[in-house]
Amino acid sequence: MKLIGTGSALPHRQVTNDEISQFLDTSDAWICPRTGIHSRHVISDEQLEDLGAEAARKALEMAGLTPADIDFFICSNVVNEYMTPGLSCIIAHKMGLVCPMIDINCACPGFIYAMDIAETYFQAGKVSNVLIVCAEEPSRMTSWEDRSTCVLFGDGAGAAVFTKGDKLKATKLNAEPSPDKICEYRRLMPTPFVTKEEHDSPLLMKGREVFRFAVTTSVRDIRELVEKSGLTLDDVNWFMIHQANLRIVDAIREGLGVEQGRFPTNIADHGNSSSASCPILLDECNRKGMFKPGDILVFSAFGAGLLSAAAVLEW
Ligand code: COA
Repeated sequence: MKLIGTGSALPHRQVTNDEISQFLDTSDAWICPRTGIHSRHVISDEQLEDLGAEAARKALEMAGLTPADIDFFICSNVVNEYMTPGLSCIIAHKMGLVCPMIDINCACPGFIYAMDIAETYFQAGKVSNVLIVCAEEPSRMTSWEDRSTCVLFGDGAGAAVFTKGDKLKATKLNAEPSPDKICEYRRLMPTPFVTKEEHDSPLLMKGREVFRFAVTTSVRDIRELVEKSGLTLDDVNWFMIHQANLRIVDAIREGLGVEQGRFPTNIADHGNSSSASCPILLDECNRKGMFKPGDILVFSAFGAGLLSAAAVLEW
């Protein structure tokens, strides 16, 4: 497949580190050096599905397509206000999209997992145009009394449209299931029969272990995939790394032994927007005109699961 359109949408409310330090025992001086984050966009009066639909419309417009041209829609999301239907259906309803659609919850690598699924459908000859939307509101998952998690995340949506082509060179999906590293429990409806113990909790995260997983898997995934694609790290024009933490991006760059300048980041004013992170970064770089035909983009993302994934895409 090949990429023909990108889009993104962000909540209008931007929350700075200084603002958080007014109600939480934290500071810009703590957050910024450890994460690279100065501020993040946070949902206030918006609906997540509106952000997802806006990102999708922009991507379709760039692709020169209408909703009627899309024959498969993959929506990546961790948490939204509906248990059912899937967020894909809520977004599709907003846009007049009536093709088959599925939802995936692969956390931060969701965009790459979605690309891998889309490529499989293209290879099976089942589709002509695929829309991917990653829409996330991690600000609704964290406790805003927990300074170790709430400062890290931001909300937003990113979208991409793919058509038939041979520009997705390779993908690699990886899992090390260990739900205790990043998880959030949700209590379901009670029944007369449940006797097990259940509870609700905000996002729980073992930050240092996740940090190590992120760096180790990303360096390994990128090296393996670039080699599998018959390329070297020197051939890669842009390393599109999941924007979880600037220190993670820097550690990956050092692990690969690659000089600065090929790792675009937007984390300073976005924070970690889970699976929306990669497609938002992609759209922002694209609209700045950074990519030239033939450029090699390598995506790498990691997160809850634990899951990681990487992809090589020619522009
Ligand atoms: N403000 C001030 N102090 C804070 C704080 C905050 N926002 N968050 C944590 N602290 C404190 C802790 O309470 C701890 O204090 P203590 O030593 O008195 O117990 C101290 O800072 C050190 O905390 P620690 O967790 O060891 O810091 P760290 O250097 O490991 O950095 C993270 C914490 C979360 C920034 C870092 O581990 C990280 O980025 N991990 C990856 C998380 C991630 O990206 N997850 C998503 C992946 S998709």
